[in-house]
Amino acid sequence: MNSELKDQHGRVKRKLRLSLTDRCQFRCQYCMPETPKWLPRDSILRQEEIVRIATLAVTQLRITHIRLTGGEPLLRKDVVEITAELAKLKSQGLEKLSMTSNAARLDDFAVPLKAAGLDDINISLDAIDADLFQTLTKAPLQPVLNGIAAAKKVGLPVKVNAVLMKGQNQDQILPMLEWAAAEGVELRFIEFMPLDSGHQWDESLVVTETEILNAVSEKYDIKVLPKGHEPATRYQLESGQTFGIIPTISHAFCGSCDRIRITAKGTVFACLFSQTGTELLPLLRENADDEALAKAIRGDIWNKHRGYIDHPGYVERPVTMHAMGG
Ligand code: GTP
Ligand code: 5AD
Ligand code: SF4
Repeated sequence: MNSELKDQHGRVKRKLRLSLTDRCQFRCQYCMPETPKWLPRDSILRQEEIVRIATLAVTQLRITHIRLTGGEPLLRKDVVEITAELAKLKSQGLEKLSMTSNAARLDDFAVPLKAAGLDDINISLDAIDADLFQTLTKAPLQPVLNGIAAAKKVGLPVKVNAVLMKGQNQDQILPMLEWAAAEGVELRFIEFMPLDSGHQWDESLVVTETEILNAVSEKYDIKVLPKGHEPATRYQLESGQTFGIIPTISHAFCGSCDRIRITAKGTVFACLFSQTGTELLPLLRENADDEALAKAIRGDIWNKHRGYIDHPGYVERPVTMHAMGG
């Protein structure tokens, strides 16, 4: 049956976040345990399984936007081939193929990814100060800046994500905004969400949307732009520069949620904060037909709860951010 993918609250799903790997060479503490246990290789979806799920999502479930995530998707050896295979779905209803990356390897990948059909890329960058960046990620800043430059050069639109945490990087708000203006990239500040692995999250560590706006308005006049389905609320400065804030904690936007997630081991999660998911891997490896796969996905999504707004704060969840893909 070819029909829209809907949950019990009437929200139609259009975007699939597909994680290609749980591995990452960074160690951002808001996302990754200090000593992560990677998924065993044979439990990770193979290229043909990823293509099969994506094809089903576009042709049967009317998904129109796929975002490739990780861990870090560029650590997957066949990432360019996967991108090229999924880009072929543009003749069957896919409107946009995107990626979220830490950009450390993007200098090498920007040209082949663009040629393979990637439409745009979001890059995590939590500080523009090199020492602070190194402290936060345990990785150097320069390769990331090179990656951003390479993406721009090849004509891949770039958005930059900065997760803010009190006492760590809230002093980066204005420097990053000014850097983004000079670079011509759209910056989104993200409220720290309770999805880290070490239970460090505490509401007092969240730099809220209001606090971010207060910091920016010390120097600039800001106007709010109309809100769409994306998680970010967008703002504009008098100069014309736009930026976004993803305010999950202070202003949950679950009512307009149009996305689903499938992890690198093939588990469907209806929400970032879901406590259970539906495993597709056994079905794929037992040669289940498309109808059975679609039924499993539809069943999981139909049962979706209202979202973070219904159970805010820290809740034990089966996967942390690095395995969920954001
Ligand atoms: P766009 O399609 O460009 O709007 O991308 P995106 O913001 O959806 O994706 P990205 O991977 O750049 O994620 C940025 C931040 O938004 C990350 O912290 C994600 O975890 C968060 N995010 C993405 N989707 C959702 C969502 O449905 N709910 C919540 N609460 N956060 C989300
Ligand atoms: N809170 C908010 N955003 C997070 N991300 C990872 N972990 C968290 C968290 N605990 C962001 C990353 C990346 C995106 C996929 O998710 O910065 O940009
Ligand atoms: Fe959607 Fe869950 Fe995010 Fe709310 S918290 S916007 S329901 S994924």
